Amino acid sequence: MNIPEQYQIKTLIHQNSYLVNGELKPWSGESSDVYSTISSTETYKPTLLGSIPTLGEKEALEAMDAAVHAYDKGQGLWPTMKVKDRIECMETFVTQMKTKREEIVKLLMWEIGKTLPDSEKEFDRTVDYIYDTIEEYKQLDRDNAKFEKQDGVYAHIRRGPLGVVLCLGPYNYPLNETFALLIPALIMGNTAIFKPAKHGVLLISPLLEAFQSSFPKGVVNIIYGRGRTVATPIMQSGKVDVLALIGNSKSANALQNQHPKSNRLRLVLGLEAKNPAIVLKDADLDLAIDECIAGTTSFNGQRCTALKIVYVHEDIVDEFNKSFSARVDALKFGNPWEAGAKLTPLPEPDKPQYIQELIDDALDKGAKIVNEKGGETTENYIFPAVLYPVNKEMRVFQEEQFGPVIPVLSFKDIDEPLDDMAASNYGQQVSLFGSDINTLAPLIDTLVNLVCRVNLNSSCQRGPDVYPFTGRKDSAVGTLSVHDALRSFSIRTFVASKDNPYNNAILKNLLDSKASNFVSTDYIL
Ligand code: G3H
Repeated sequence: MNIPEQYQIKTLIHQNSYLVNGELKPWSGESSDVYSTISSTETYKPTLLGSIPTLGEKEALEAMDAAVHAYDKGQGLWPTMKVKDRIECMETFVTQMKTKREEIVKLLMWEIGKTLPDSEKEFDRTVDYIYDTIEEYKQLDRDNAKFEKQDGVYAHIRRGPLGVVLCLGPYNYPLNETFALLIPALIMGNTAIFKPAKHGVLLISPLLEAFQSSFPKGVVNIIYGRGRTVATPIMQSGKVDVLALIGNSKSANALQNQHPKSNRLRLVLGLEAKNPAIVLKDADLDLAIDECIAGTTSFNGQRCTALKIVYVHEDIVDEFNKSFSARVDALKFGNPWEAGAKLTPLPEPDKPQYIQELIDDALDKGAKIVNEKGGETTENYIFPAVLYPVNKEMRVFQEEQFGPVIPVLSFKDIDEPLDDMAASNYGQQVSLFGSDINTLAPLIDTLVNLVCRVNLNSSCQRGPDVYPFTGRKDSAVGTLSVHDALRSFSIRTFVASKDNPYNNAILKNLLDSKASNFVSTDYIL
C-alpha cells in the first residue's frame, strides 16, 4: 500500500489519561482499541490507531463534580472572570491548537476518512471560528458596556453563563462541530464536560495539554467511554444546565429524559435532516447537477446538511438522471490523501451493509440503480447508487441515510415535494433550482416556513459560520452561528437600581473602583 511518508501511522496513540479538574489523570483500567477502516496493507485489514480509556460512571461523575465545582454556584473563578481575561485564556488555547494542525489533520483522515483538503478545511475553519467567536464576544461586551434607564430605573444588562454544559459532538465533524459548541459555551463563562465522538476521538489527544494549561482547573473536563455509561449518570444527577449535542434526536431525547428537572435543562441541539433538492423544469441543468453532486456526495453524504433526496421535474428527469449518473460514476474513490479522491472509506464498519439494505429495499419496491457503478462494494465502501424512481414506501425515502446512496423522485406538481416536506420529520434546509421568478417567488415564500434556509441554485451547507444554522421539527433546537451560539449558551441577567442620589453614588463608586467584573462600562477594543 502506497501511503506517503508523512501520512503513515508510525506510532500508536494510547490515550491513557483523561482531563478532570485540571489534571490529566492516568487511567490503567479497561480501554478500547481505535481502528481505522483504512487499510495500510495490500490485503485489506483495518488499521489499529491506538486506544482510549473506557471510563465508567465513577469517572463520569468525577468530571461532573469538577465542572460543578469550577462553576461553584456562579462564584467560580471562570464565571466571574473579566471578559478580557476569559478572552486571554481562549487566545492561549487557540495559539497552542494551531501548532497541532498537522497531527490533527492526519488523524481526521485516518479516523473518519475525510479527504486531505476537507480535513485541512475542518481544522482551519475551526481556528477561524474561535477567532470570530472572540471578536463577536468583544462586540457583545462593547454593546453591553452601558446603562439604560426606563421609568426611573437604571439597568446594566449583560449576558451571563448558564452553568455546567455537557457537550457531545458528531463523528462527521469531530473537531469543528464539537468546538462550535464547546468554544462559545466556555467563552460565555460556563464550565464543561466534553466527550469526544465515537469516531474522531484520538484527534482530541493532541489538544489535551492545551485545554489543561489554557483554562482554570475544572473548566474543561474531557472524558472517554460509551455514551450510555458516562453521559447517563451525568444527566441523572440533575446538575447539567445545558445539553449541547450534535447528533441524532433519539440520543438527544434519551439523554434529555434522564434529567430529573427538564425545565432546568437548556438544549442546544443540531440533529438529523433529510434536505431535499428540488429541480424545476426551467433550471440550469448543468449548474443543478454540479451542485447536486457536491450536495449528495461530499464526504460520502455524511453531512447533516447533505442533499439526501432529489426531486426533479418529470419533463427533465431522464436527462438529469443520465448526466447526473455519469458524473457520479466519474467520481474518484481513494484514500483521503490521494489527489483527486472525492469518495473515501466510510468510518463506520457496518455502513456499507446498511446502505446495501436501503438499496435492496428500494429495488424490491420498484426502484432501479441508474448508474453503472452504483452499489459496488469493497471492505470499507459502497459506491453511491443513484436510485430511481423512489417512492414513499421505501426506507431510503424515510430514513436519513447519512451515507453514499442518492434517491431521486420525479414530480409533476410542485405540491408533491412541498407536501412531502411538510409531512417530513425534518426541517433544516432545501436546495431550489430554477430561474423563473414567478415560480420561485411563491415557492420561496412557502419553503422558508418549512425549513430554515433556502439555497437558491446551490447545495445546502452550514457555512459561512456567521449565518444562522438551525432547523425545524426533529432537525435542531436552538440556533448556532458565531453570534447566535453566544446567545444560546447564555442568559440575559442584569443589575437594576432606582434613579436616586443614594443608589447613583454607589453605582458610580462601583464603576470607578472597578471592583466588579460585571458592573463595568470599560470597552475592550
Ligand atoms: O453535519 C453537518 C454539518 O454542520 C454540515 O456542515 O455544511 O459545512 O458541511 P457543512
